[in-house]
Amino acid sequence: MASKNNYYVTTPIYYVNSKPHLGTLYSTLLADVASRFAQLMGKQTFFMTGTDEHGQKIQERAQELGMPPKEFVDSMISPFKDIWKLFDLNYNKFMRTTDEYHQKAVQAWIKQLMEQGDIYKSTYDGSYCVPCESFMTVTSDSPRNESGKAVCALHPNRILEEVSEESYFFRLSSYEKLLLEFYEKNPKFIMPRERMAEVVSFVKSGLKDLSISRKNLTWGVPFPGDPEHVVYVWGDALNNYITGIGYGQSDEESMKNFNQWWPADLHVMAKDIVRFHAIYWPAFLMASGLELPKRLLVHGYILMGDQKMSKSLGNAVDPTTLAEWYGVEPVRYYLMRQMAVTHDGIFSLKDLEDRITADLANNLGNLLNRTLSLALGNKLEKVKAPVAWEPAASHLREQAEETYRSYWDAMNDNMYHVALGHVWTFIGQVNAYFHAQKPWVLAKENGELFQEVIAAACQSLEIIGIMLSPFMPSKMSELLSCLGKRLESEYNYDEILRTNSWNGQFELKKLSEPLFIRPESRVEKSDQPELKKEKNRASMHVLSKKEASDSSGEITINDFVKCHLTVGSIRACEPVKGSNKMLKLTVDVGEESGDRTILSGVAQHFNPDDLIGKQGVYVTNLAPRKMMGEVSQGMMLFAEDDEGKLKLVTVGGQVKPGTRLR
Ligand code: MSP
Repeated sequence: MASKNNYYVTTPIYYVNSKPHLGTLYSTLLADVASRFAQLMGKQTFFMTGTDEHGQKIQERAQELGMPPKEFVDSMISPFKDIWKLFDLNYNKFMRTTDEYHQKAVQAWIKQLMEQGDIYKSTYDGSYCVPCESFMTVTSDSPRNESGKAVCALHPNRILEEVSEESYFFRLSSYEKLLLEFYEKNPKFIMPRERMAEVVSFVKSGLKDLSISRKNLTWGVPFPGDPEHVVYVWGDALNNYITGIGYGQSDEESMKNFNQWWPADLHVMAKDIVRFHAIYWPAFLMASGLELPKRLLVHGYILMGDQKMSKSLGNAVDPTTLAEWYGVEPVRYYLMRQMAVTHDGIFSLKDLEDRITADLANNLGNLLNRTLSLALGNKLEKVKAPVAWEPAASHLREQAEETYRSYWDAMNDNMYHVALGHVWTFIGQVNAYFHAQKPWVLAKENGELFQEVIAAACQSLEIIGIMLSPFMPSKMSELLSCLGKRLESEYNYDEILRTNSWNGQFELKKLSEPLFIRPESRVEKSDQPELKKEKNRASMHVLSKKEASDSSGEITINDFVKCHLTVGSIRACEPVKGSNKMLKLTVDVGEESGDRTILSGVAQHFNPDDLIGKQGVYVTNLAPRKMMGEVSQGMMLFAEDDEGKLKLVTVGGQVKPGTRLR
């Protein structure tokens, strides 16, 4: 059993049919931040990523290129490793499913399950989505292409293949009850928690046994005892999480390693593969008699316009270009701050540039700059805490303490965008303190108080640097070094930040160049076609005739739970500049999601002031849309009366913002 002081985090292992892009970078970055935060909290960490190299999709891609599959997969490894290195993704192991130890361990696993009766032979008749490498059930509700052929929702350009072949099956159906019990006992198994409902309802609707082998395919792990079959690629791939840390190997070191790290603390992935991780993987582990992972972090997609960014859709943004233009760590910051883990997020160059200018260069960069230049300009190099802090500084110290508590809660729930929001609120408070104290006047009039203000700014900057270090490790180490500090790997910063003793000493050093600079705008100039299109993409969604007629049909409960209807309180409301229809609302939709900006075309029905403080109902999992230069992160519900006047949809009494309708 892994000790509490160990933390094991994984990313999905990526298919190598295409190079990494901003979407795959996002998942890997989330895992990196989780690992670095665990280290900050004094834990030993193991961070594993890698590649999924078998299956029909890879075999087809290698054929297209006229290469033997192994040669092809080998050629795809450096593009992954290079980008992960460029973005300082500090993984401990890069695992590959073509590695021999993995293949042997998968075969041993299949043998064990066959012997205990969890795998049996039968025939599979059904459909298969090659890009998803997934068996699909086609119903009258399934999406279809223009010629009426069934397609999968994620890959509308590729029709589902009909498969009729002998296959080995895993008895997934017999794990239904155990899975439901497990979800019930572990409400935080899937984060954000809203995603749990979809999984539970899928399991409750009945699980069929899972085909675990493919017959007419050669590129896979040979099925033990039956040379005509290979192991189904997901049966092979999911096991990477245990084989990569030693499972299935008999040498002492591998066994020790496995016992040290398993069960995993966190598997990171996007919502496309939650079913594999939340249902199949736990069932496989139960069958193997192993403990289950502690948490799945299921994030949304990075979208270009309203489409998922992916190489196969040809709309992927190259992370290397962004790193060249803006620097690695500002891009890391943007991805973690702007993209809410809970939702799909639209990638936009303009938002990226705005974040760097406002948050990094202005709010944080200038605070550091002003503190250092004012102190050093007045020959104050060694800064000490005063014997007792004045009330204004004591208040700032309390704010620091509150910030750390909220940051810690959000980081532990993997709500990184929320945690960063708390840090920036604090940066605003430090800036406000600095302005109010006017240290440039105090420097001439009251040396003692001047020293205190600089000391309070240094204390605050140190805490900020520590909290931001999982997100921007090099920039924060530069920031800390200007204060004469550095992160010590053996410290438990949880204790330090919680104690918040504010009795540090600082030795200030000049910055050789500003920590962050306002970037030159590339929005107009971009010659990457995907980045160029950005300006024309955003528009309001108007239902097409087909969508409108589809929406009058019956839906199942599974369809209903997909729609998140949430109660929210309007905290601010103002007209949108340049529009006589649109209002911009700031809505509190609960702690987990924080404040949302929601645009609504109701300016002719409501006065902004009349809406402030009201509770309403919002669709909170709509993909964000850009309108009038603003991103709307949800939709507010109204009902229209006989005279065409809109009424706010409300609940029958006050409830906590964030309450989901059911
Ligand atoms: N090989 C499987 C995973 C096996 S894990 C045992 C697979 N590979 S994949 O290359 O298709 O990667 C899917 C994952 O890549 C998503 O779950 C997500 O983590 C990441 N993303 C791919 N495109 C993305 C976006 N546009 N946005 C966010 N994440 C993206 O599925």
